[in-house]
Amino acid sequence: MCSIVGCIGVKHSREVVLSGLSRLEYRGYDSAGFACYDEDRKQVLTIRAVGGVADLRLAMQERSYDAQGLIGIGHTRWSTHGAVTEYNAHPVSDCTQRVFIVQNGTLENDAVLRAELAASGHRFSSQTDSELIAHCYEAALQVITEQGKKISRGQLSQMMQNVLHRLQGTYAFILLLEDIPDTLLIARQRLPLCIGFGENVAYVASDILACAGLVERVLFLPDRTYAIVQKDNVQLFAWDGSELAVSIERIAVSWDESGMRGHPHYMLKEIYEQSDVIRTLAYYGPTDVSDLVGRNISLIDETVIRMVGCGASAHAAYLAQPFFENLVSIPSNVFIATDMRERPLFEQAGSWALVLSQSGETADVLESVRLMKERGMCILGITNVVTSALAREADDTLLMRAGVEVAVASTKSVVAHIALLYLLAHEIAYRRHKITHMVKDQAAHNLAQLADVIAQHLVLQKDALLRIAHSLALLPHMFVIGRAVGYAVAREIALKLKEIAYIFAEACPAGELKHGPLALIDADMYVIVCSSIDETAYRKLIINVQQIKSRHGKIVSLVYEGQHELQVLSDDYVIVPVPQDPLLAHVVMISMAQYMIYHTAALLGRSIDKPRNLAKSVTVE
Ligand code: AGP
Repeated sequence: MCSIVGCIGVKHSREVVLSGLSRLEYRGYDSAGFACYDEDRKQVLTIRAVGGVADLRLAMQERSYDAQGLIGIGHTRWSTHGAVTEYNAHPVSDCTQRVFIVQNGTLENDAVLRAELAASGHRFSSQTDSELIAHCYEAALQVITEQGKKISRGQLSQMMQNVLHRLQGTYAFILLLEDIPDTLLIARQRLPLCIGFGENVAYVASDILACAGLVERVLFLPDRTYAIVQKDNVQLFAWDGSELAVSIERIAVSWDESGMRGHPHYMLKEIYEQSDVIRTLAYYGPTDVSDLVGRNISLIDETVIRMVGCGASAHAAYLAQPFFENLVSIPSNVFIATDMRERPLFEQAGSWALVLSQSGETADVLESVRLMKERGMCILGITNVVTSALAREADDTLLMRAGVEVAVASTKSVVAHIALLYLLAHEIAYRRHKITHMVKDQAAHNLAQLADVIAQHLVLQKDALLRIAHSLALLPHMFVIGRAVGYAVAREIALKLKEIAYIFAEACPAGELKHGPLALIDADMYVIVCSSIDETAYRKLIINVQQIKSRHGKIVSLVYEGQHELQVLSDDYVIVPVPQDPLLAHVVMISMAQYMIYHTAALLGRSIDKPRNLAKSVTVE
């Protein structure tokens, strides 16, 4: 999942491209690069660096890269093909150094292409699949320019088609040809690409956030299309070369320039923002949800609630299951997006799927959406990005209104998902006459009170959370256990420990320990216990804890207020307050756990906002 940015017609294309890349850096930050057609030297000059945009800027200074031009392209990389090196950073080019490309995505027929190109004499300077595309265009150009003619726009379109039919995979790319320095050639298959229009300026990007504040007119390229882009003219084509009408949308794209607001990391800022996010949804959410269900009344007739997501968003779905089970009295299923695509889909046409994705660009999620739509299912997208592919491809959308989430590890978006699903469950339950209007209306007040509880207890329990963070930071690994929704909490905690603290943590249903994992319990093994508010589950959890203690395992508990027995059994614990609606108790636990793990990672000196190997929006499969 890389970011690609291009612009034409801007006097200082370098700064425009670099600042656009900075806004999209959360999508991938192994390496970065920039190229522009230098008006004075009449050639394309490229510079690349390992690391993020800041490292690229440093390289520009150190190497006195001063190219300036009206047309430029840039890239931040999350490697899929080839090691993290400068020579694998984009833009990559062809043998003649006249075709330059920045690409997001992966080619599935890269091996065949590489062999074909090598057989016809092409030599490669990188391990990337993206470079193969540049060589394909080099070959296509040679066919045209052998005839000694300057390439015409008509030939450009034919050339695009010829190459695109050779490529298999999911991709979005921007091409800059040294011979045509007033035009960008762009194409997408599955992965997003859009064009923002200013006054005699055009911006191309994998995410419109790159040009937030610069444009209000945007063209989101339809899937399997390509375009010839100039500063004041765009031609859009279908894969077969037929020209398409350009449908421009007017949208105001804002970017939270507020930065970290004094916090050391975006993740900590976003953990503290959770209360405000929940309050916002308590205010706007009931109307958003009621209007949505009113537009899609068949939602209330579902016999099962199907939720789809990846990573922390899938965990949010698990954390929301109790709402539908307790309020609507129907089961709910959570499908990990990748998993559901490899299993038979028994859902019937017309049934709904709730698809959770903060970025709305997760490739696995989008592929599952396309699969479900092919089966005639209806898609309710729950996303934080109104301009995302999910928002455009879903039949209807609930916006999380959480504000830009920059840290790769999702925090405020997890609670936003849960809050929206809490309101949705109340709306469906009310329309199915399971609860009264008063109970439905109370949901918003419960959320507002939950927000206060979270805000207060991140402060009140700070010492305990920091104390436990110190203990966890010393551990090489640990188990995280819980029962029922407590296991959903355990999953999210285990993910956060892995992704930001780089500590191996395994989530395990508490009752499952004795069926195998208990073999790993000894005096060196720590187990984080996520307690349950449900009395029956709590009683069983105590038994599981005793099974661990009897094998000298160490217990660190997230225990609800009043649960003294578990406190006594624990080597350490933090008390989790129970909010007005106990159905929301685990949301408090999640928030406190995220805070605790943030500090664990900080103590270990991790790259918290941009953990190694990860990206905020996983736009590759
Ligand atoms: C962080 O490692 C990842 N961004 C991941 O956990 C994330 O939750 C997952 O990729 C889903 O992202 P989405 O909500 O934007 O679809």
